[in-house]
Amino acid sequence: MEWTRLMPLLRLERREDQSSVRKQADGAGLVAVSRTHSTQPSRTAEDRLAALGLRSLADLLAPASLVVADDHLLLDGQYTRVLAIGELPPLVGAGWLNGVFAEKLAADVSLHIRPLDGSAAASALKLKSWRLGGAVGDDAANGRPVDNNLSTALEQIERLRRGLARRETALFSVGLYLQLHASSRAELDQLTQRVAGLLGAQAGSVLVPRLQQEQGFRACLPEARDALQVLHTLDTGTLSTIYPFVPASPRMAGGILFGIDERVHDLVELDVFDHRVCQNANVGIFAPSGGGKTFFTKVLARRYLLTTDNTDVIVIDRKHEYRDLCDAMHGQFLRVAASSPHRYNRS
Ligand SMILES: Nc1ncnc2c1ncn2[C@@H]1O[C@H](COP(=O)(O)OP(=O)(O)OP(=O)(O)O)[C@@H](O)[C@H]1O
Ligand SMILES: [Mg+2]
Repeated sequence: MEWTRLMPLLRLERREDQSSVRKQADGAGLVAVSRTHSTQPSRTAEDRLAALGLRSLADLLAPASLVVADDHLLLDGQYTRVLAIGELPPLVGAGWLNGVFAEKLAADVSLHIRPLDGSAAASALKLKSWRLGGAVGDDAANGRPVDNNLSTALEQIERLRRGLARRETALFSVGLYLQLHASSRAELDQLTQRVAGLLGAQAGSVLVPRLQQEQGFRACLPEARDALQVLHTLDTGTLSTIYPFVPASPRMAGGILFGIDERVHDLVELDVFDHRVCQNANVGIFAPSGGGKTFFTKVLARRYLLTTDNTDVIVIDRKHEYRDLCDAMHGQFLRVAASSPHRYNRS
């Protein structure tokens, strides 16, 4: 038996003095975590020994050993590293973080969200808007070409100010951390590079907090306390894109490729004839004129014909758009007209 695993680092104790609990900051519970060697003078040595013999929840949860290195932690022999998202990707779709999850990496995500006072931000934005507006106006007055970066920044700030004034959006201070787990240092470095690559591909970046891994570890505990404080100020719309739990793309075994879910960069494969999943096989395709509806229908027809043996494709083709496909797939093209040589039910 590995005795070290049973050695408690922390104890969860019920506070005996209820009045001292009430004096604490609001939100403090009836239990407090304290170190095992903190003893009360009234207790005898025997009481202390007896108390040590009792196992509490903290004994079960606390790791047997914790080694703090400059860029990682060794927790019960498992290598752990906390990464902070340094730069968020400038352009993202909903659920962009899901790309990290889609890889099924050994990583936990912690997201700290604090609402900010909109009025304080509004005055800072007003100042910024004046400065940028002044620079843009100065360029125009002196006949200099328009700096697109300046005018885009001004537009974004104005949009944000409008949203804040109309209460359509709010500002939040957001900390986003990833806690990686690996069984060796080399594996941990590899995983770090993988995550950095995934974020880098979307023009974001991750930071490895040096000499702050313990704070990072605490920020990833379910305590709602952000000890690391690598923060970003985001509005409601941008914050909503970080939410990683967008529904997974439908992917059925033996399905036909319908396309790619751009939110999570995952394939959408459906077998619309599978009655266990789709109640019926009717499909509606909607797009503006010239948007590719016919093209997509042809692709689906071809994929069904090529990948299954028992699919019949019958097209009522007023504009003769499917003729080439019909010829390529060795189908029959029947003209329905009085002058047509083709006849049904000839008898
Ligand atoms: N995914 C695609 N890749 C390449 N070309 C495409 C694609 N989708 C559509 N096109 C091309 O775009 C043009 C218009 O497509 P299509 O005729 O399918 O549109 P539509 O939505 O059916 O138009 P309409 O509303 O007029 O029926 C066609 O020339 C088609 O070849
Ligand atoms: Mg069409």
